[in-house]
Amino acid sequence: MKSSIEKESETSTKKFYWGASTSAHQVEGGSDNNWSRWEYENAERLATGADKKWDAATQARFMEMHQSKNYISGAAADHWNRYEQDFDLARDGGHTAHRFSIDWARIEPRKGVFDTEAIEHYKDVVKALRKRGLEPFCTLWHWTHPKWLEDEGGVLAPEFSMRFAHYAHMMVDALHEADPEIKYIMTLNEPMSVIPNQYWRGVWPHKKRGVGAVLRACRSLAEAHVQAYRAIKIVTPSVEVGFTEIIASFVPRNENSRIDRKMVYIAQRANLRVVDLTEGLFDFLGVQYYHQHSVGLGKKTVHSDVQKSDLGWELHTEGLGHVLNICSAYDVPLFVTEDGLADAEDAQRPQLLHDHITEVLNVRKSRIDVHGYFHWSLLDNFEWDKGFWPRFGLIEVDYKTQKRIPRKSYGIYRDIIKENT
Ligand code: BGC
Repeated sequence: MKSSIEKESETSTKKFYWGASTSAHQVEGGSDNNWSRWEYENAERLATGADKKWDAATQARFMEMHQSKNYISGAAADHWNRYEQDFDLARDGGHTAHRFSIDWARIEPRKGVFDTEAIEHYKDVVKALRKRGLEPFCTLWHWTHPKWLEDEGGVLAPEFSMRFAHYAHMMVDALHEADPEIKYIMTLNEPMSVIPNQYWRGVWPHKKRGVGAVLRACRSLAEAHVQAYRAIKIVTPSVEVGFTEIIASFVPRNENSRIDRKMVYIAQRANLRVVDLTEGLFDFLGVQYYHQHSVGLGKKTVHSDVQKSDLGWELHTEGLGHVLNICSAYDVPLFVTEDGLADAEDAQRPQLLHDHITEVLNVRKSRIDVHGYFHWSLLDNFEWDKGFWPRFGLIEVDYKTQKRIPRKSYGIYRDIIKENT
């Protein structure tokens, strides 16, 4: 174990990366994977169900939620063809790094058959980032995989981890050939978003639901990470391998209730299940923060004074510091690999950027090893089962013309980066 003084001096001297995140399926367009198939099967249902899901004001603001085409990723933000232009914007926005993901379905469209053109494309992506001085942070599985694997059971398929490790080490080897300096690879994105939505609530592409499926999915994803970690380390030992997890900040409804505090502990441990299962086998952890949940037996506290995003998610700055503190227990470098909100008018994003980055920098001053901040997201994108209407981008995308329009927040983030570098 390093002493806190050693950690403090390391933390202050190590490079801090500034950037934004994207994911392949949400921005590239032209996907043909487990999710795109699910979209076609569910678009109509999602469109007709929107009136029950959202309040009248939200429905009136975002009329497109009632149209089935909102739920089909289709051309998305056409980032597959426009990545150079998008990376120019990231560089001009002062970013020093960029997090993107690879769509496994493009790489291995048929079992055991690898598409060399798709591999070349992602090699070019990495080169394009490096050329612009943007450190590439690559995620290998941001929830999408080939349809043949979904037909075998997806995350619960007996071969999932083995197949993933094979694709992972092969892909990292290719990226390393394109950019021998490549350093940061994330195997999985947020197991704890997929597991509850897919195997508990059953609202995302899934095969099975229930406690058994949840537990098996935890084990399968942990195993996939571990096998990929080992395979990548053998082939490309210079690379740091981690994964990202969504970490909610749980708080007791009643501070004075032992039961509520115990429930907070249980919820937090459940949230960290995959991290715990893989402890010791990740070189860094990507922390992704969006929610604070009050947990306990009493009535849910309604914070009428708390601001909410377009999706109705409450904004609690202190939660970000809280989750970074929790994750510091793993004693590995941390990166905030996602943090942001749906805010079409860009009314609250400037304040969120300011408050959340201040929180991160304060946490860093208190000797917690945080090495980067990546805003979600660089561009507006396809928000999974909600489709296109939630707008998360520093840069607005006009989906009719694919024009990029930097929001006020884009410039504000650039100024914050400048001030802090
Ligand atoms: C996911 C993103 C998603 C964002 C906003 C994160 O949990 O990694 O893909 O768009 O949250 O919902």
